[in-house]
Amino acid sequence: PVLVVDFGAQYAQLIARRVREANVYSEIVPHTAPVEQILAKEPAAVILSGGPSSVYADGAPAVDPALFDAGVPVLGICYGFQAMADALGGAVAQTGTREYGGTHVDVDDSGVLLTGSPTEQSVWMSHGDAVHEAPEGFTVLARSAGSPVAAFEDPQRRLFGMQWHPEVKHSPLGQHALENFLYRGAGLEPTWTAGNVVAEQVERIRAQVGDARVICGLSGGVDSAVAAALVQRAVGDQLTCVFVDHGLLRAGEAEQVEDDFVAATGVQLKVVDARAQFLGALAGVTDPETKRKIIGREFIRTFEAAAREVVAEAGAHEEEVRFLVQGTLYPDVVESGGGEGAANIKSHHNVGGLPDDLQFELVEPLRTLFKDEVRAVGLELGLPDAIVWRQPFPGPGLGIRIIGEVTAERLDLLRAADAIARAELTAAGLDRQIWQCPVVLLGDVRSVGVQGDGRTYGHPVVLRPVSSDDAMTADWSRVPYDVLATISTRITNEVPEVNRVVLDVTSKPPGTIEWE
Ligand code: XMP
Repeated sequence: PVLVVDFGAQYAQLIARRVREANVYSEIVPHTAPVEQILAKEPAAVILSGGPSSVYADGAPAVDPALFDAGVPVLGICYGFQAMADALGGAVAQTGTREYGGTHVDVDDSGVLLTGSPTEQSVWMSHGDAVHEAPEGFTVLARSAGSPVAAFEDPQRRLFGMQWHPEVKHSPLGQHALENFLYRGAGLEPTWTAGNVVAEQVERIRAQVGDARVICGLSGGVDSAVAAALVQRAVGDQLTCVFVDHGLLRAGEAEQVEDDFVAATGVQLKVVDARAQFLGALAGVTDPETKRKIIGREFIRTFEAAAREVVAEAGAHEEEVRFLVQGTLYPDVVESGGGEGAANIKSHHNVGGLPDDLQFELVEPLRTLFKDEVRAVGLELGLPDAIVWRQPFPGPGLGIRIIGEVTAERLDLLRAADAIARAELTAAGLDRQIWQCPVVLLGDVRSVGVQGDGRTYGHPVVLRPVSSDDAMTADWSRVPYDVLATISTRITNEVPEVNRVVLDVTSKPPGTIEWE
């Protein structure tokens, strides 16, 4: 792999993604990993990311110079560039001219890193220190007002560095520079494609699973569907998928799993109709966290019972059903390796909670993938667009989009309103611009309206369209007024009991995306 050494800025994941967009496989390692450990992974190249420190600060993470003697191509970016210059005997100092944001650089395009680049360009900078002198043997490739050495290279030793951030879209030629490093500097081939990912994962799954039986919980979401489809491709009928219909899905979503997914993959599917059970468990409950806990608990119980049935039906000994598929993605892996516990804002639940006494080993074929790559793999496996491009939807489903008690009637109202909003946003071509658009039913709020000649006293629904890259932060989407108008008219006309449609114009933070 290409290893991205994370110096603690938010850019490492982005760099890894950009490298993969160049069809080269990359992984992230913490800067605390010793050089021997990094080299033991036999990296095809190493990229040192940006970071918040100054190379002079006490305890600033340094780069072990041994890295540069290993014959591995290295690219330093921002802090990584300065740390590299420092380690190799260049001069790094404060210039007094901090550069933040779009910055003009003059470029020498005759080398490797910036070949094919315009000699003047705008790039994205974010630094206080600057490299004043390149280390011996290096050619200076770029200069800016605040950075006497804004990029350098020693193509013989295959060492490269740049002060600016090539991974952000505000450096329009950034991807070009990254590709110069990967293809020309490090001599790598763009061979990492969805087709290769499928082939490689199929091999790995077969090696891991052997001829044992495998269970997978399907949620209707992209991740579990793609994970299941990969395992199905690898071991066929050794896999049984379990779909717990908790009655909290949106209109058409259960059918998407039961019909479309099965048709596309030929997977063996066990459907558990637990709708009445979930409604019963949620009766009278209004507190959001209590709802989440109940839904999570019922889910695990139901899934566990279904898993036992699969074991029994297979006539197998329990130890023969040893594997459980999970759709864990790479960002989860990176973040949980980060060590810092995030505050428990909401208790999230995902499909496939582990039963206590049924001992499963996990199969996680998406562990190395980012979300967009999961989609590419899904398409490669022939999954329908409606599944592959599905927007995020929370595990607890509509249960946390009804404020107040969850009842069958309210679920029907919300499903109808949600289906209208989704249909109109899709018709307006906004699906890929909008991250997701929860529709929330204010079950305990009523307002007065007038319809026909009569007074109404119905419930409001809230539209919550948001744009986001990763759901950690979000902004409310500026959906065109006429689209909002159509949604509002249709919902109030077609959904009885709903006489008002309101728009949520809160960013995250302070609001979360979901209301509960
Ligand atoms: P919040 O509301 O925390 O949501 O801003 C962030 C993203 O996570 C989704 N979400 C969940 N996903 N299980 C999930 O799998 C959950 O319990 C859950 N709660 C929220 C939410 O839809 C948004 O995309």
